[in-house]
Amino acid sequence: MWGDDEVSIDRIQTGIPGLDEILNGGIPRRNVVLLSGGPGTGKSIFGYQYLYNGLIRGQSGVLVALEEHPVQVRLSMAQFGWNVTVYEEKGRFALVDAFTAGIGEAAKREKYVVKAPDDFQMLIDVLRSAIKDVDAERVVVDSVTTLYITKPALARSMVLQLKKVLSGLGCTSILISQVSVTERGFGGPGVEHAADGIIRLDLDEMSGELKRSIIIWKMRGTAHSMKRHPFDITDKGLIIKPEEVIMVTRRREE
Ligand SMILES: Nc1ncnc2c1ncn2[C@@H]1O[C@H](COP(=O)(O)OP(=O)(O)O)[C@@H](O)[C@H]1O
Ligand SMILES: [Mg+2]
Repeated sequence: MWGDDEVSIDRIQTGIPGLDEILNGGIPRRNVVLLSGGPGTGKSIFGYQYLYNGLIRGQSGVLVALEEHPVQVRLSMAQFGWNVTVYEEKGRFALVDAFTAGIGEAAKREKYVVKAPDDFQMLIDVLRSAIKDVDAERVVVDSVTTLYITKPALARSMVLQLKKVLSGLGCTSILISQVSVTERGFGGPGVEHAADGIIRLDLDEMSGELKRSIIIWKMRGTAHSMKRHPFDITDKGLIIKPEEVIMVTRRREE
């Protein structure tokens, strides 16, 4: 454990092996956490694992899919043994399709479709009804970058609006943020400062091998590890090693 233990703080246990240890028990409830990293760093898998761990603990969840077809998302999750279909049928999990715009045969079977994915207000409305329908405690948006990639000036206001809705409805949320391979930031000054927490996933080449690591940059309401910890992705998802620390020396940082 890191720092004083704040016993009275209400936390959401991520259930991701090793992560709750470095978070001093979990993510403080209602926090909106930016999960930032380059391509292939494990952001989507982290999001799926966080949601599924909620479902098996009796906490409902919503996943907003902006980058992949909902059918593909369910398949990707099932590869880790995370079958969400049963929870969808029970009304405990909702997948918000903000990808297909309702086009295609498979999309017609989706319950929560954002017909105009470019319309942020429509997305907020669909998200709000999904959260209320399943009484969601956990929400993942994959990714928020897609929302404002063509309109960077709106990034901060979009994240703040999401935060108001998510936190207001009592959810503890992960907003996935894409950064380029060499970028040191977390997705731009607007969004970084609006988030209650920032978790960064990295992939670095060391001695001819790619190594994965995670660092908790910020987490409002709790002490946490200030160290960079190695982690693996396995067929059971992410496994973080809280007792190990990894040193990363990057050849070039901009
Ligand atoms: N079953 C698995 N076992 C080990 N590693 C895996 C497995 N499935 C995926 N991966 C790793 O996870 C990476 C993709 O993770 P993902 O969460 O989709 O990345 P991101 O969303 O950050 O782009 C792959 O590039 C691969 O290295
Ligand atoms: Mg992804």
